[in-house]
Amino acid sequence: MNKLSFTHFTYLPMSMRVLFTMVLLVFGTGYLMAMIQVWESHAGRDGKPMLSAKDLIIAYNGNKEGTKLESALRGPMASMLPDEKRETLFTWLHEGAKEADYASKVEPIVKEHCVMCHAPTVNPHLPDLTNHDGVMKTAAADTGMTLPTLVRVSHIHLFSITFIFFITGFIFTHAYIRPVWIKCLAIAVPFLTILTDVGSWYLTKIWEPFAWVVIGSGALMGLSFAFMWLTSMYQLWFYKLPEDIEQEAGKLPGVYR
Ligand code: HEC
Repeated sequence: MNKLSFTHFTYLPMSMRVLFTMVLLVFGTGYLMAMIQVWESHAGRDGKPMLSAKDLIIAYNGNKEGTKLESALRGPMASMLPDEKRETLFTWLHEGAKEADYASKVEPIVKEHCVMCHAPTVNPHLPDLTNHDGVMKTAAADTGMTLPTLVRVSHIHLFSITFIFFITGFIFTHAYIRPVWIKCLAIAVPFLTILTDVGSWYLTKIWEPFAWVVIGSGALMGLSFAFMWLTSMYQLWFYKLPEDIEQEAGKLPGVYR
């Protein structure tokens, strides 16, 4: 049995190495964008600027002390309106979201800053903020992401992450890593963590500490991606196989190991 039973990057055609490099460059950029997106949509939901487990609990399970409207205005919608108007909305919410104040205090702000996106004709998937009823729905107790939303986000993540890690993992199979179990682990981890991650979105609704599993899964997935990315890039262009392995491969003419 030969020690090296895979084709190392250095034995691949130049065209394939260029292809792998370009794919990794774009995936790397995509991963950074995804991290910024996670930050943008969750950080600050609990009123503190950093991203925390509390932010995720509010996103998935809701916030018993607050409303969906307030969480959104502290989180992803924070930049949609000036701070003083945001405060006006918070004051209205904290005073019990009275209908008497709606037309004078809330309606003008919502009409100016929200309805260009939040109207059924623009995007039927977003809360409808064109009328009092619609706004009141977001001003009711926040129970977090609804099941239909979770299912929609889940299937997109499950398919797209599998796609990304099949390609990244496939490129990485051409790297020389010993012991082999480390290589296999790096390849397997993203697939396991996407399952624990998505699963924990639902479980956080039942038991809040599962937010930590969401965080842990994301961290492990990121580590695995970084490890495969850096190793592949390095070995594609700068790495020389150990001498004995190189010789071993040379003994088998015509067979790329
Ligand atoms: C540029 C388009 C746009 C504008 C303007 C906008 N929103 Fe949104 N809003 C979105 C999108 C897209 C989502 C869903 C994605 C998300 O949750 O991050 C959303 C989600 C929400 C949600 C639901 C969050 C959840 O947890 O389900 C609320 C409530 C909300 N917006 C309120 C507002 C209010 C109030 C304003 C005006 C101050 C506003 N939005 C302005 C695009 C917009």
